[in-house]
Amino acid sequence: MAQASLGERLDEVARAVEAIGRADAARLAELKTALLGRKAGALTDILRTLPDLPPDERKAVGRRANALKRDIEAALEARERALRETTRGGAGIDGTMPARHQWRGAVHPVTHVIDEICDIFHELGFVRVTGPEAEHEDYNFTKLNIPLDHPAVDEHDTLWLDDHIVLRTHTSPVQARTMERYPPPIRVVVPGLAYRRDPFDPSHSPAFHQIEGLCVDEGITFVDFKAAIAFFVQRFFAPGTPVRFRPSYFPFTEPSAEVDVRCQTCRGAGCPTCKRTGWMEIMGAGMVHPAVFERCGLDAERYTGWAFGMGPARVAMVRHGIPDIRLFYESDVRFLRQFLDQP
Ligand code: DAH
Repeated sequence: MAQASLGERLDEVARAVEAIGRADAARLAELKTALLGRKAGALTDILRTLPDLPPDERKAVGRRANALKRDIEAALEARERALRETTRGGAGIDGTMPARHQWRGAVHPVTHVIDEICDIFHELGFVRVTGPEAEHEDYNFTKLNIPLDHPAVDEHDTLWLDDHIVLRTHTSPVQARTMERYPPPIRVVVPGLAYRRDPFDPSHSPAFHQIEGLCVDEGITFVDFKAAIAFFVQRFFAPGTPVRFRPSYFPFTEPSAEVDVRCQTCRGAGCPTCKRTGWMEIMGAGMVHPAVFERCGLDAERYTGWAFGMGPARVAMVRHGIPDIRLFYESDVRFLRQFLDQP
């Protein structure tokens, strides 16, 4: 095989100079040896042959070879500096090393349901507000027409922080805070955590999410309430999903109702999820009690309104067929990963 001419070998060295600018740390060390290595560096070899060349050629080759050597040294130095600067602190770390695996975050399934619910009510003119989780007993109970000696206080399994402050047992206190602060018309949804001294079991968590809804204005009737909830159910569940309103009791509403939707698991046939009733309860609700208006400084003669309290974790369980509420609150990545690709 014919030996490459000196000119060709110099061209090859010149091409290698360009490669220096793109090299990572390992490749850079290789190139340095391949070009300038004392024993077998391509340029070292060329320079070593100079004394044997005819004077004319020696001059031309020598000039080009020495220029290349300067270029190579400058390129090596520049690349080394660049690599050093891309690493933190420049402590000899290889800045070109592939990055560690990135975790892709997912919206928590309960947060996702909360956002969807808030978005649907937003279409009806509701805005999101929040309130404190450490709450005064007046807001958690008294202003909601629950006197402190009322049995409902015990039923709420309240966690007291001190004599008058509780971890709110529901998001309803934010109704009172909103009515005290903003004049009607009021249309708010209030997502947040509530706390009760409950066991941590498949259907209870001592910390759990709620969404409160409140609509107050002149001339609001039970018909407005039914229409808004029916709209919500059709949007959140499939269109045509049957919904029913059952009479119930809450101290802060009169009349009070519980709202059921057709069981999403068995479509009404009866299954363990719906305890064979064919229905799933999604919220407590009703027309705001006049005593609540009065305690919150609103004219009960002038204003009427409706309210609801919903458990988004329950709703998420219904939707995804999840049997145990604790899965939402244990932060087990193997469970949460399944919600990476929610729309
Ligand atoms: N606060 C109630 C609870 O936690 C739920 C509720 C019922 C909220 C009726 C309301 C309502 O706003 O009108 O059990």
